Amino acid sequence: MTAQPATQVVTVEAGAITPGAAAIARAAQTLAAGGLAAFPTETVYGLGGDATNGAAVARLYAAKERPSFNPLIAHVADSAAALALARFDPAAERLAAAFWPGPLTLVLPKRADCPVAELATAGLDTIAVRVPSHPIARAILMAFGRPVVAPSANRSGHVSPTTAQHVLCDLRGRIELIVDGGPTPMGLESTIVACLDRPVLLRPGALARAEIERLVPLTQAPHAAAPPAHADEPPIAPGGLASHYAPRARLRLNARRVEAGEALLAFGPAPAAGAERAAAMLNLSPRGDLIEAAANLFSHLRALDAAGAATIAVMPVPRAGLGEAINDRLERAAAPRS
Ligand code: TXA
Ligand code: MG
Repeated sequence: MTAQPATQVVTVEAGAITPGAAAIARAAQTLAAGGLAAFPTETVYGLGGDATNGAAVARLYAAKERPSFNPLIAHVADSAAALALARFDPAAERLAAAFWPGPLTLVLPKRADCPVAELATAGLDTIAVRVPSHPIARAILMAFGRPVVAPSANRSGHVSPTTAQHVLCDLRGRIELIVDGGPTPMGLESTIVACLDRPVLLRPGALARAEIERLVPLTQAPHAAAPPAHADEPPIAPGGLASHYAPRARLRLNARRVEAGEALLAFGPAPAAGAERAAAMLNLSPRGDLIEAAANLFSHLRALDAAGAATIAVMPVPRAGLGEAINDRLERAAAPRS
């Protein structure tokens, strides 16, 4: 995929929505090639990328200009596919049976063998999963056959798009494809409920709270009352519920040389002084590419942590583009904790 893709818009008529239809097949091919394809869901337009492809997920964050790696929702075709990603407690099973396909997102414990890229879940051990009901979204998910991450298809800080035209305004030249299926029926994002301990409402949305409470009691998230910073953002930071990814090892940031016994998380072509004596070394991007670095960030941190050094020295990563989010996550991982 090129750095500056020409964004193509393909229209799907209501009568022609099948997994084999040309526009649907184009979307599936785009996703399989690591590209980005926006498509309608019953809530808002989503910007789809292959959830199992870390580089595609990194490009997705870059296209949206997200200032940090807010975790993404994995969209799948049916509950059977969702079971391969996450563990369902009885409350989650009831909600899924009642409301999927539909505008409900469940945040669940991620399965150990979940194929979704670490970057998509921002290194958390939970995952947000949704089975959309829109026929175009469903047809794309069935044709593609793997989970698709799809944040709202707007630039960060803008409101969620409900027409293909909105998507084009925000993302022209940044994504490969827009599947135009007309205005989205609901226009409001999915309701997000975490089923980790007891069910907690994380984001009010297109499925009314009362509908959910007919089946399971809901706890309000601690700071869900706080107004969102932008209309686009959920009312709670994901970090408020599940803790941010924290390695066991201490992180030493902006390291220009490696001290005895340290592991090294490198960036770019020039190794840090003393790299040859590092206990273990991985490079986020030997060619200094921030998109590649983002795709590798969480998995490299985990691998170095598992290698057992007490400290991971992290070479400086520039703050341009995705570098801002990479540094944000590194700083959180390096922060002192009890
Ligand atoms: O209706 C929707 O849900 C749309 C359509 C396209 O499906 N998608 C959407 O995605 O609104 P997005 O990325 O704009 O918002 C999803 C929110 C994120 O902001 C994040 O806070 C939350 O879901 N989220 C994702 N994974 C999470 C997790 N593991 N724990 C807590 N919150 C999570
Ligand atoms: Mg959004």
